[in-house]
Amino acid sequence: MKKNLFIVLEGIDGSGKSSQIKLMEEKLTAAGHKVATTLEPSTGYIGSLLTDILTGKVKTDHRVIAALFAADRLEHITNPTTGILHLLAEGYTVISDRYYFSSYAYNGYYSGMDWVIALNKQCSSLLRPDLNIFIDVPPEVSMARIRANRQTTELFEKLETLTKVKAQYFEAFEQLKNEEQIFITDGNRPLQEIASDIWNKVSTML
Ligand code: ADP
Ligand code: TYD
Repeated sequence: MKKNLFIVLEGIDGSGKSSQIKLMEEKLTAAGHKVATTLEPSTGYIGSLLTDILTGKVKTDHRVIAALFAADRLEHITNPTTGILHLLAEGYTVISDRYYFSSYAYNGYYSGMDWVIALNKQCSSLLRPDLNIFIDVPPEVSMARIRANRQTTELFEKLETLTKVKAQYFEAFEQLKNEEQIFITDGNRPLQEIASDIWNKVSTML
């Protein structure tokens, strides 16, 4: 049996998380691991509501958004057939596109980080990532990538917001550095260079 891990990719919108997840999945699979990829907001019923909020279809208070993300995460962790705990028990290495640091950074910016960390306490008790990988890109770069690829933008996809969210990520990393495994990689480089950097880290943990 190969050792299976729970790995999370974090970063501001357009930082390259899904591109790196694909590359990491290929490398892990080639190394003989069973891999499952997943994301937040989830594809379940709370995640669908969050998608409607992010695209502007539904409007609500930022505290409600923070609470819904925490609820979605609890469902994402505990669902008996599709949940992360179940997948880990089945021997999968699970890679998630976002987890609770996204809440600390994005929702913490609007509703206060301490409250958002407290709101997610059940999640951190149930399941702490083996590794949080933060892809660090300047907000100007991620906004340019988003604009080049899409005509519409979501709730948080503004230069000013992403600049503040990036600062919030670093504040959360500082606050939780003694209890969380955090790896920061420079995301303003060619895809394969970032992928090698990530693989150098992940492969030491297998
Ligand atoms: P995220 O999942 O963080 O939103 P994506 O992986 O979807 O980011 O990347 C957003 C866009 O930026 C995509 O068009 C992708 O092809 C491009 N991209 C991702 N990583 C890089 C990179 N290192 N250099 C240049 N473009 C990139
Ligand atoms: P997503 O489609 O993941 O954005 P991208 O692929 O561009 O990174 O969109 C999720 C959005 O929701 C993103 O703006 C971050 C935000 N978010 C929160 O505000 N709180 C959370 O807990 C999570 C998981 C995401």
